[in-house]
Amino acid sequence: MVIQVRVNTPSKPYNIEIETGMLGYLPQLFERRYHGRRMAIVSDNRVFSLYGEEFVRKLRIKGFETISVTFPEGEPSKNLRTLEGIYNALADAAFTRSDYVVALGGGVTGDIAGLAAATFLRGLGFIQIPTTLLAMVDSSIGGKAAVDMEQGKNLVGAFYQPDAVYTDPGFLATLDDRQLLDGMAELIKHGLICDRDLCDKLEIMASDTGAGVIFDEIIAASCRIKSAIVEQDEHDTGLRQILNFGHTIGHAIEKVQQYQGLTHGEAVSVGMVYITRITERLGLTKPGTLKRLTGLLESFNLPVALPDVNMKDLVGAIRIDKKSRSGLITIAYLRETGKCGLAKWSFEELEEHLFAQLEN
Ligand SMILES: NC(=O)c1ccc[n+]([C@@H]2O[C@H](COP(=O)([O-])OP(=O)(O)OC[C@H]3O[C@@H](n4cnc5c(N)ncnc54)[C@H](O)[C@@H]3O)[C@@H](O)[C@H]2O)c1
Repeated sequence: MVIQVRVNTPSKPYNIEIETGMLGYLPQLFERRYHGRRMAIVSDNRVFSLYGEEFVRKLRIKGFETISVTFPEGEPSKNLRTLEGIYNALADAAFTRSDYVVALGGGVTGDIAGLAAATFLRGLGFIQIPTTLLAMVDSSIGGKAAVDMEQGKNLVGAFYQPDAVYTDPGFLATLDDRQLLDGMAELIKHGLICDRDLCDKLEIMASDTGAGVIFDEIIAASCRIKSAIVEQDEHDTGLRQILNFGHTIGHAIEKVQQYQGLTHGEAVSVGMVYITRITERLGLTKPGTLKRLTGLLESFNLPVALPDVNMKDLVGAIRIDKKSRSGLITIAYLRETGKCGLAKWSFEELEEHLFAQLEN
């Protein structure tokens, strides 16, 4: 059964539809909803060969005119050159504003395709078909689209909500374990910051029996949390910062390890543990929360211990993070499981807390 999550962002309301096996009937559904529109399928080469070719073939059988734009998989492709390649394909095929860009892939694909859709002719139709867990519970929701530059990640971007998100958890069968864990860290984060009930379900899912827990529902619960947050803060000026729980320390770990160590999700996992160690010690977090959080992350095989990094380098990396220009850094933390808060600390305070933590 399809689970529908409504996203009422001020600029454009849309639905996320979630069902395992949806890919099988998506061409028929597109025929009913988008008849006569042209479709530009954007995918990385791995996802396109696994799913894209067949999807395009079926769309054509349904009478759709399609073009396909593919690029090498991975973050290095999330750049202006790939974006230009999409613009060229859209212009060569004379796409109009009533046609659609369809992102079939993970967060990299969604981010580039979203930016192309936002900017070509000042805005085409945009459909997301996320194929990684991270894209399903995080990047396909909320309208952030961007490409990287040599100077930094996500430097050129826009807010552009999709017209619809079609989420088929069946895609996850071919995803490798580490990629799956990356998404799991964000999914668990959503439960920790906003939804105790989701944390309960995740604990059951990780237990031996997993009794009665349906993954489609877990994904839907996670999507509802992200949706509710972006509805209230579409342009990331306040509340959306709670989504950064674990990210301040996590990003710094990734940076200090020169993106060759922990994955993003693993680094966020460690970041959530460390910030909670600090805030529980400071009395901002209800006692016992750290134990539960650590247990939950460990039950999904996510790391909870700081890797061997120099603490001064770590604090230095936080200092140059773009979120910290004002001299104060906004820290998302847990008040208890399922409830979060935001605190503003100076670097000196954060440094002091981190070092105090290490001495314990
Ligand atoms: N826009 C947002 O709000 C937002 C939020 C979080 C992250 N992001 C961005 O998302 C990106 C990371 O996304 P990601 O982790 O999905 O990476 P990704 O898109 O690079 O996908 C990861 C890998 O998985 C492969 N893959 C994708 N689906 C597959 C499937 N079903 N089966 C087998 N292989 C598959 C891809 O080919 C790729 O090699 C980053 O660029 C990050 O900045 C954006």
